[in-house]
Amino acid sequence: MGNKLFTKDFTWGIATSSYQIEGAHNVDGKGPSVWDVFSHTPGKVKNGDHGDIACDHYNRYKEDVQLLKNLGVSAYRFSVSWPRVIPTGFLKKPNTKGLDFYSRLVDELLQNGITPFLTLNHWDIPQGLEDIGGWPERDLIHHFSDFANVMSEKLGDRVKHWITHNEPWCTSHQGYINGEFPPGIKNNYSKFFATSHHLLLSHGMSIPIIRENSKNCQVGITLNLCPAEPASPSKEDKEAAIEFDGRFNRIFLDPLYLGSYPKDVINGFLNDNLLNEENLNIINSGDLNRIKTNTDFLGINYYSRAVIRSSKIKESYNEPENVTLGEKTDFGWEIHPKSFYDLLKRVDKDYTPQKIYITENGCSYDIGPNELGEINDENRIKFYDSHLKYLSKAINEGVPCVGYFGWSLMDNFEWAQGYKQRFGMTWVDFKTLERTPKKSYQWYKNFIKKNK
Ligand code: FCB
Repeated sequence: MGNKLFTKDFTWGIATSSYQIEGAHNVDGKGPSVWDVFSHTPGKVKNGDHGDIACDHYNRYKEDVQLLKNLGVSAYRFSVSWPRVIPTGFLKKPNTKGLDFYSRLVDELLQNGITPFLTLNHWDIPQGLEDIGGWPERDLIHHFSDFANVMSEKLGDRVKHWITHNEPWCTSHQGYINGEFPPGIKNNYSKFFATSHHLLLSHGMSIPIIRENSKNCQVGITLNLCPAEPASPSKEDKEAAIEFDGRFNRIFLDPLYLGSYPKDVINGFLNDNLLNEENLNIINSGDLNRIKTNTDFLGINYYSRAVIRSSKIKESYNEPENVTLGEKTDFGWEIHPKSFYDLLKRVDKDYTPQKIYITENGCSYDIGPNELGEINDENRIKFYDSHLKYLSKAINEGVPCVGYFGWSLMDNFEWAQGYKQRFGMTWVDFKTLERTPKKSYQWYKNFIKKNK
């Protein structure tokens, strides 16, 4: 194998999402998404940034496909702006111009030898569906099925890798607990739970539709998983870490792979009076079977671990913290590649997914061009290198991971953080929209070449 860390058939890719790069927010019949509305609500996004133009990928997609080709990736993960295709969310007739954009993009990718991995929902749902109550409403499941049907009917002949949802935790937690994402509601656990349940259920319901329209395709869902480390060996910190793991990870993994919600998590919500028995009535008979529908792969997004300190006892009664923290990225996220490995081993052992794709992994550094116009983002290279080494170790020990997507192809609109957090391997000058590959782009290109 020489100095190769991965097998020849491993899928090398890079990811983006519609609202973060497309711009063209009101052209060709597109309706408003929740992110269009939220980002234009004062105080919601840093600096008042929004995705009206973003990277203008809608108009520059051909140039961006060349960036992908030159990078040498064999796959590209992107998402579809749902209101570009179904402007209000209520399907009468799909918006042909919106659909055609994705059709052109897919053709361009295929002509350049790049396999499309299409995510249906990367958060920018039609505002029209938010206006009827959004994900806490069971009706959203049927609207999502319509959307999945339209997309897979149109592209199912050419797109063979489908991801239903990106990171349900972000939609439910950021939307209804900390309020940082649309609709910006805080501490509403019943809506948090209903959102999680409906996202999972719509995932399960759409799988047969996608399979019917896209023969021999592979379908999965992407979760952001975050390993929890107790801050000290105290009983309280250990319990707090188990609770965090339950509310962040197992609340999605258990229903998807084991067909039930974790009992400790549900009891914890009930005991803490965050949910009541009535809130659980949204789980209809048959739902859990649907959610457990067999998938072809699990998509995992990994960025960092969480070190957990109990808030249930006074600091002075707790044992001293004994976890050594790693360096942080510009986002303030701890860099901890070993947790990536631990997570993969654990998911494989506890849930045995058929296959895993790492659908996102990356870091934010605000390193711009020097006098020579070069962008020497050494920290990003170090981040990728260390994570890929641990990924290779996990694979060598039997974890069925068959592909990896870095986040992201280019700097983009980083949600509530606006344009300040730069995750790209390509620098984007947001005034001129010029793209300049960074040193990490070159590094990733060589890494792929060496491992192909
Ligand atoms: C993930 C999102 C992605 C991007 C990265 C940094 O949670 O899926 O869109 O914002 O974080």
